Amino acid sequence: MKARELRSAFTTFFEKRGHEVVPSSSLIPHDDTILFTNAGMVPFKNYFLGIENPPYKRATTVQKCVRAGGKHNDLDEVGRTSRHLTFFEMMGNFSFGDYFKEDAIPLAWEFFTKVLQLDPERLWVTVHHTDDEAAQIWEEKVGVPPDRIQRLGEDNWWRMADTGPNGPCSEIFWDKGEKYGPPGGPENPASDERYVEIWNLVFMQYDQQADGEQIPLPKPSIDTGAGLERVLSVIQNVDAVWELDEFQTLLEAAESITGVTKDHENSNLISLQILVDHARSSSFLISDGVIPSNEDRGYVLRRIVRRAVRHAYLLGVEKPVMSDLADAVI
Ligand code: SER
Repeated sequence: MKARELRSAFTTFFEKRGHEVVPSSSLIPHDDTILFTNAGMVPFKNYFLGIENPPYKRATTVQKCVRAGGKHNDLDEVGRTSRHLTFFEMMGNFSFGDYFKEDAIPLAWEFFTKVLQLDPERLWVTVHHTDDEAAQIWEEKVGVPPDRIQRLGEDNWWRMADTGPNGPCSEIFWDKGEKYGPPGGPENPASDERYVEIWNLVFMQYDQQADGEQIPLPKPSIDTGAGLERVLSVIQNVDAVWELDEFQTLLEAAESITGVTKDHENSNLISLQILVDHARSSSFLISDGVIPSNEDRGYVLRRIVRRAVRHAYLLGVEKPVMSDLADAVI
């Protein structure tokens, strides 16, 4: 399955279950608590908070996201791990005061195991340590064996920013197999390359104030997010997002633009991956209207471009490469 087919399988599944298919919003959010749209729920923040009335109670999107500053910042991980990207697409389904966890959990399971036909024995789930209800739904309604349901602390509490909508969450992980790390499930910190988080189901319940007070939302709601590139790497059975066909094309472009081959040395590969990721995020940011500058989101964009250029230098390339890489992305 290719990216285009996965996007469509996801939104069609939820459309058939009463969700409005809403196009991706801009990477520039209408919100001053964050610099970039960092999750699928961002455009819907006011619906969760009850500030605006949603025109639909259920929605599904494939949202462009950038995580390169603020609370959700993956900039330093990119290129060094198999799965972090500063720009990615997040597939999500949302309920604005309509269904809650007893429906959201089985829906996610059905999509993964029936539509994508992922092997259920390789799926693990985590829940917040206080969330007995979610653990029970996983075990009794879905049938996940209790030894593959683990309880975590802060990792299973999702917040959009320092203030705003938040709540306990439940994550679904894919076990890549013993060759990628020790056993023990996602709670084992030594096996984060083995158990890869592929879907996060957030049970939105609170609006956090600047002083830390948690005000209950008008209605409990659902916000889920599954990284398109991570799910694709499971379906296409590749070790890392970099091996997906879309990234391979860009890596080949980066090799030909820089004249450096990726199998030369491992550090070359990391720099080429960083060039590819940063070319994607900077191209999409500029196309949504962000301009490199010395403040706010423009400054983050400048840092991304500068970091890419630094990695071109590390590869021994001092001629400009970013505009050619942007052409490859486009
Ligand atoms: N907002 C949650 C996340 O970004 C689920 O979409 O992980």
